[in-house]
Amino acid sequence: MRIGSAVDGRSLSLDPAYSSLLGAEFNAVTTENAMKWRNLEPLPGVYAWPGADQLIEFAERHGQAVYGHTLVWHSDVPTWVSPDWPAERLRTELRDHVTEVVSRYRGRVWAWDVVNEVLDEDGSLRETLFLRKLGRRYIADAFRWAHAADPGARLFINDYGIEGRTRKADALLKLVKELRREGVPVDGVGFQSHIAWDQPPRDLTGNLRRFADVGVSVAITELDVRVELPTTPEKLERQAAVYRQVLRSCLTVPACVSFTVWGFTDARSWIPGYHRGYGAACLFDGNLAPKPAHQALIDELGRHAGTDRASPTTN
Ligand code: G3I
Repeated sequence: MRIGSAVDGRSLSLDPAYSSLLGAEFNAVTTENAMKWRNLEPLPGVYAWPGADQLIEFAERHGQAVYGHTLVWHSDVPTWVSPDWPAERLRTELRDHVTEVVSRYRGRVWAWDVVNEVLDEDGSLRETLFLRKLGRRYIADAFRWAHAADPGARLFINDYGIEGRTRKADALLKLVKELRREGVPVDGVGFQSHIAWDQPPRDLTGNLRRFADVGVSVAITELDVRVELPTTPEKLERQAAVYRQVLRSCLTVPACVSFTVWGFTDARSWIPGYHRGYGAACLFDGNLAPKPAHQALIDELGRHAGTDRASPTTN
């Protein structure tokens, strides 16, 4: 079981306390921003590799698995990618980007978020530049290009709002089955899991199971549990319970191969800037002190290990 965290490149470079905690607590890492197209290829054909290279080198020094986020995402497209291009130009640039990035890290990245957030809230395909210009085939193309560049990497489709049995989750399950029926190498589904402290997902375990039942791996890819500020001890206990529930679901479903939090310290979380009035979403506070949620995960891992240890005597 990979227990990982998204990593902020700047903190990794500048904050020794951050990087030593990252190295000590997790056996897997995800690039929070360093591998997004806009950050990796700021100019056509000009790659800014150091941010991604730094994280991969850190991970390899600490025996951590690297999860690559993300190859195709409508949100962080470089400014030089023009919506006025003919379709074939966009397809060529996208193919070259996926091929260049996955080839560079061949054998060093165990899994990729090949496409991110391709569904809209109602389960329809999101009206992105890629869908408008290339049609739905851009999804299959991206998976095939990534597989050709690194046949050993596990290829994921990643999204949010699919943790419970939502309409969007139903639509994603249907899309994954269709893609795999067409022979598209979709190996896994990433459940981002950006959760509010008082709205835990309904039946996450059952939902993970129905994806596993169609033959894919599942992963918790971006877990954070935002709390309505100000925090109180009770809210932090509720938060801890949600973290523990998500980890228990992942441990219960054998196909759940990775459990990753979206940053581990409240000092470096995207939440306050995107969810007004919310914060304190991570396992450690702004001073890198562990919160109840951290202990809850330790306890859950211990329970699970104990269950494993108990099983030889019980069967
Ligand atoms: O590093 C620059 C800094 O130099 C500059 O001064 C500052 C102001 O412009 O921007 C900084 O870059 C920001 C970057 O985060 C690092 O903090 C970008 O503007 C900002 O857009 C970027 O936001 C990230 C966001 O994705 C968009 O890429 C968040 O950190 C990141 O946590 C968030 O993560 C996403 C996943 O990729 C996909 N799933 C949802 C998740 C949350 O939105």
